[in-house]
Amino acid sequence: MNLLVTGGAGYVGSHVTRQLLAAGHRVTVLDNLSTGHAWAVGDARLVAADLADDEALEAVLGEGMDAILHFAASVVVPESVSDPLKYYGNNTRNTLGLFAAAHRHGVPAVIFSSTAAVYGLPETERVDESAPLAPINPYGASKMMSERILMDLAAASPLRYGILRYFNVAGAEPQARLGQATPEATHLIKVACEAAAGARGGVSIFGTDYPTPDGTGVRDYIHVEDLAAAHVRLLDHLAAGGDSRLYNCGYGHGYSVREVVEAVRRRSGVDFQVNEAPRRAGDPASLVADAGRLRRELGWTPRYDDLDTIVDHALAWERAWQSRRR
Ligand code: UFG
Repeated sequence: MNLLVTGGAGYVGSHVTRQLLAAGHRVTVLDNLSTGHAWAVGDARLVAADLADDEALEAVLGEGMDAILHFAASVVVPESVSDPLKYYGNNTRNTLGLFAAAHRHGVPAVIFSSTAAVYGLPETERVDESAPLAPINPYGASKMMSERILMDLAAASPLRYGILRYFNVAGAEPQARLGQATPEATHLIKVACEAAAGARGGVSIFGTDYPTPDGTGVRDYIHVEDLAAAHVRLLDHLAAGGDSRLYNCGYGHGYSVREVVEAVRRRSGVDFQVNEAPRRAGDPASLVADAGRLRRELGWTPRYDDLDTIVDHALAWERAWQSRRR
């Protein structure tokens, strides 16, 4: 298939691009390289342009795309609290522009990267896809709005969608050829691996007074390669004429910040500094997926559902990446 991948030079987008190429698809990546890297697209074609660049978008879609996978977005929860317009602009307005262009060009299918942040403060221990949407930060709200636009457009046109609500994505390609290379990353496993690799002084634990077993935030960490595989399965479903779908992407169990930090210390053998800091703006106490639907309906079977494996892959990548940068 002829595929457009927005944000394909970024962390999740580059891993999915690699799997799509391996499956034999032709991939064009559209990415403004604000946090992504040209090398990360591998053998895909790179169009270095912003999603708001209508001309670039028109030219690419004019070539005739069989599907769009839309990753390009801003993804840092606390930044969305301090700079909401950046999030509504990049994530909602630019996404509306992309969906409108897809509609004009008759693109049959769109896969959209959404987030567990749409659920806000879940009322149940594990949250399934039918839970109420009540985001507590602009990031989650910006993605919730884009989901809604896509669903409404699909109801009014032949377009079919796949929406994937990611929980906490982590890890790297097992051979350490690809991983998270985001500058000034804020995600916990990435930050802790940077500390273990000597690229930062230590790690702060944001909040130790949450109503969780050890007082720190609990998240459902999913390996980026398992997440990428879910995209490939969803694409196959849509390409075969399947109907629109919405799935949580997680493993169904959570780890606390302390457990994650401890795992990175243990697996790396590096006793990096850890300090306790106040809660971070916009953070829920706990977010864990009920991801049964994805397994049942698409036959998705995760290969790396193990925190130590995620940490090992993230560490191997971080060490390779840091030595490459020196
Ligand atoms: N944390 C720390 N120290 C750090 C970084 C994070 O204690 O240096 C804590 C956070 O407070 C939180 C947990 O680690 O409790 C995870 O934080 P991340 O920044 O790694 O990830 P978030 O949960 O904030 O957000 C991520 C994605 C969102 C997604 C969300 C779903 O960025 O897209 O996971 O859980 F919606």
